[in-house]
Amino acid sequence: MTLTDQTRAAIQKLVSTYPERRTALLPALKLAQTDAGYLSREAIAEAADVVGVPHSAALELAEFYTMLHTEPVPPALVVVCAQLPCALRGAEELVRDLRAGLREQIGNGLVEIERTSECFGACHRAPMARVGATYCENLDQERRRTLIQELAKA
Ligand code: FES
Repeated sequence: MTLTDQTRAAIQKLVSTYPERRTALLPALKLAQTDAGYLSREAIAEAADVVGVPHSAALELAEFYTMLHTEPVPPALVVVCAQLPCALRGAEELVRDLRAGLREQIGNGLVEIERTSECFGACHRAPMARVGATYCENLDQERRRTLIQELAKA
C-alpha cells in the first residue's frame, strides 16, 4: 500500500461530497501526489480504487495534467508559464535568469526548471511560475531575484 490511511480516508470523504464519484478523481490524485511525493502507478491505482473508477481513467488523467507528476520530482520544481501573456511579459527571460541563478542547485538535482504551455489563470500578473504548489506572480527583476535567493537557500 502506497497511500497513508489518512489520505485514503480523505479521498473517501471527498468522494462523498460529489454526486458523481468520478468527479472526485482529480482532487483525489492531488491528495495522493501530496502524500506519496509523486504519482507512481501504485498510487494512481490506489486512488482509483478508493474513488471507484478504472485504473486506466486515473492514469489518463494523471498523464494529462502537468501539475500531476507520474515520475519523481526534485525537491524544488519550478514551472514557468510560457503562454502568450506571460511570454510577452518576459517568461523566456525568467527561465533564463532562473537557470543562471540556480545553476549549482540544478546541477545537484535540487531544483528543476520547466516551461509549460498551461496557463495558470493569472495572466494579469504575468510573468508567473509555480514553485511546488505555490504560485509566484509578477516576477519582475526584483521578485525573481528574491525567488532565486529563496530557492538557493532551500
Ligand atoms: S498566460 Fe501565464 S498565467 Fe495565463
